[in-house]
Amino acid sequence: MSEIVTTERRGDCLIIKVNNPPVNALGFAVREGVVKALADVGDAKSVILHCEGRTFFAGADITEFGKPMQSPNLLDMIEALEACPAPVIAAMQGTSLGGGLETALGCDYRIIDRKGRVGYPEIELGIFPGAGGTQRSPRLIGISETLKMTLDGKPIGAAKAVEIGLCDEVADGDILENAFAFAAAVTDKRRVKDLPVPACDKSELDGVLARANKTRRGQLAVEKATEAVLAAAELSFEDALKKERDLFMELVGGSQAAAMRHLFFSERLSAKVDGLAAAPKSLGLIGVVGAGTMGGGIAMAFANAGFAVRLFDANADALKAGRERIENLYKASAAKGRMSEAEALDRLDRIQPADDWSAFAACDLIIEAVFERIDVKRSVFTELDSVARPDAIIATNTSYLDIDEIAAGTKDPTRILGMHFFSPANVMRLLEIVRGKETSDEALATALDAAKRIRKVPVVSGVCHGFIGNRMLKGYGREAGLCVIEGATPQEVDKALYEFGMPMGPMAMADLAGLDIGYDNRRSLKAGVDYEPLASALHDRLVEMDRKGQKNGAGIYRYDKGNRTPQPDPLVDDLIEDIAKEHGIERRAISSDEIVERCMLGLINEGAAILAEGIAQRSSDIDVVYANGYGFPRYRGGPMFYADELGLDHALARIEHYQSKYGSKWWTPAPLIVELATSGGKFSTWKRDS
Ligand code: CAA
Repeated sequence: MSEIVTTERRGDCLIIKVNNPPVNALGFAVREGVVKALADVGDAKSVILHCEGRTFFAGADITEFGKPMQSPNLLDMIEALEACPAPVIAAMQGTSLGGGLETALGCDYRIIDRKGRVGYPEIELGIFPGAGGTQRSPRLIGISETLKMTLDGKPIGAAKAVEIGLCDEVADGDILENAFAFAAAVTDKRRVKDLPVPACDKSELDGVLARANKTRRGQLAVEKATEAVLAAAELSFEDALKKERDLFMELVGGSQAAAMRHLFFSERLSAKVDGLAAAPKSLGLIGVVGAGTMGGGIAMAFANAGFAVRLFDANADALKAGRERIENLYKASAAKGRMSEAEALDRLDRIQPADDWSAFAACDLIIEAVFERIDVKRSVFTELDSVARPDAIIATNTSYLDIDEIAAGTKDPTRILGMHFFSPANVMRLLEIVRGKETSDEALATALDAAKRIRKVPVVSGVCHGFIGNRMLKGYGREAGLCVIEGATPQEVDKALYEFGMPMGPMAMADLAGLDIGYDNRRSLKAGVDYEPLASALHDRLVEMDRKGQKNGAGIYRYDKGNRTPQPDPLVDDLIEDIAKEHGIERRAISSDEIVERCMLGLINEGAAILAEGIAQRSSDIDVVYANGYGFPRYRGGPMFYADELGLDHALARIEHYQSKYGSKWWTPAPLIVELATSGGKFSTWKRDS
């Protein structure tokens, strides 16, 4: 038997122990080992299935997906558990996820550690439980609850798992000892597959489906998972299991699942920096300068993870207002049941307003989130330089400004870097960590560690205007803006990109962000940073007419009072016509395919330049930025993955097509695309020679 699976006989009980770190994924060696162990149960009166380490099985081994499956597969292993003559008890600690939970359901009984969690996160991988989960779960918890777990993808705690009937008992203390005591008291087999499926509450089911169709728009797995779960009530167990398998295989081999697997691994890889060996500094107290929306959100992100925070704003009224905003957000979270009132108060308590700069003397990490102007930022850094401990790390939350220029005026530029949060900072998962030319390895390692501790997905970027995300957005926004002047309506542009899978189109997004923000940015661009004035001509005129977007009820769209739904405005249509005429442009119908293609190629061409310049370490980091910071549809894997799927030769041909139509200023193919298209390469496998 493999070392990964061992057995131990204790009295009448056979313990099957699995040790496959880090998360006991159910790879081939595990499946084979468990099946062999089950064939050798002998006269044991009970069997315990136990995993060493921090967790019961965290699921199927995702690295095996998309390749031929070695036998025994997971279904075979679960069948062997059911066929075992002695009752089998799953001893569940840590996270029993996906195939891990399905394995537990193949056992006769399940006991779970009080801190344990169970769930079906497969939907995040573009699939659904494909090893009997859609058939066995309904027999314990019903159709609606199964579908809810399957489509939400979020794990539930041990107490809830027992309450709904998924597990039998919560255990305190050593899980194996508890399982052993439990085993002594059971004599009978109790196969889940033999239980009846309870009648389904249709209105509950409709609610679950409505939510999933909204939050997981465009994901094929929603429809297929629903079909599989509903089959539990319609077909025999065997027929429904076969249906589940067929639907699962269709998804797992498809492009959406490949894209989502790509993001799963990319989000783990992005925290790793080649050649970075420094240890992070330990972090206790966090300082935040600036109590606006961004500073408040950053303070909350740290407080939520248990850090004590000092929040300061040079404007006392802004500090008071900021603290009130934070308090209201916590109160609202408690009111919605997202946390208890006591927890909300604790978190609020961790954020202490500071009276002056001296509060930062005790901080280990200080993040500034003040007005986006280099002179304002530099004066903040001068203050911090004089009060911060020499070993404190200082970060700027700038989204565009030059970190090296900010660091240049300070005593020790090695401790300075960018930590670019996305709004709302307490919610959005992405954190761009910007490494300046002087930033020390220790400062970088500390920022990466902080990101992990506040549960963000970090991506390291080099210094350039807009870093990875906002720099690429330029090409996307430019093409969207030009399509409007050339003939598409703002609604057509937004609809095309929404249907591609973006959460909202760029015109509605500009209104939401505030047209005045882009207007001010364009007027303070550094020399050498170019942009296409025609693409923002409409935006500029609107700001000059005091139409700033949602905030004052009118922008590219108009908004009825108290309603955020964008309404088309004939005045804007006239304005677009005027601008086109002034520039001698004859407007024409533009298809949604062209809108999407131009916007995507704008992103991809800039992404290729970012990669070649070393601003991003790897193409998958760019995908992580777009999926987590800009709402790029996860089932398309991010812009660089999408480009690889399109084929870089095709992408190059289309860029050249637009180059011949619109000239070279914006449509010169990035040299890396030319190189890879010529050699048949891909972004995902390209490595910079260094
Ligand atoms: N297969 C292969 N590798 C996995 C894995 C899996 N199911 N789950 C985690 N890993 C790997 C990660 O890639 C990571 O590898 P590196 O250290 O090389 O980067 C390592 O295990 C540790 O993972 P995390 O960094 O994510 O560790 P964590 O402690 O933060 O989180 C976890 C642990 C909650 C289990 C998290 O890893 C996770 O959510 N894993 C995925 C769970 C999942 O999706 N399960 C369902 C699989 S699909 C399935 O089971 C289908 C089916 O029905 C047959």
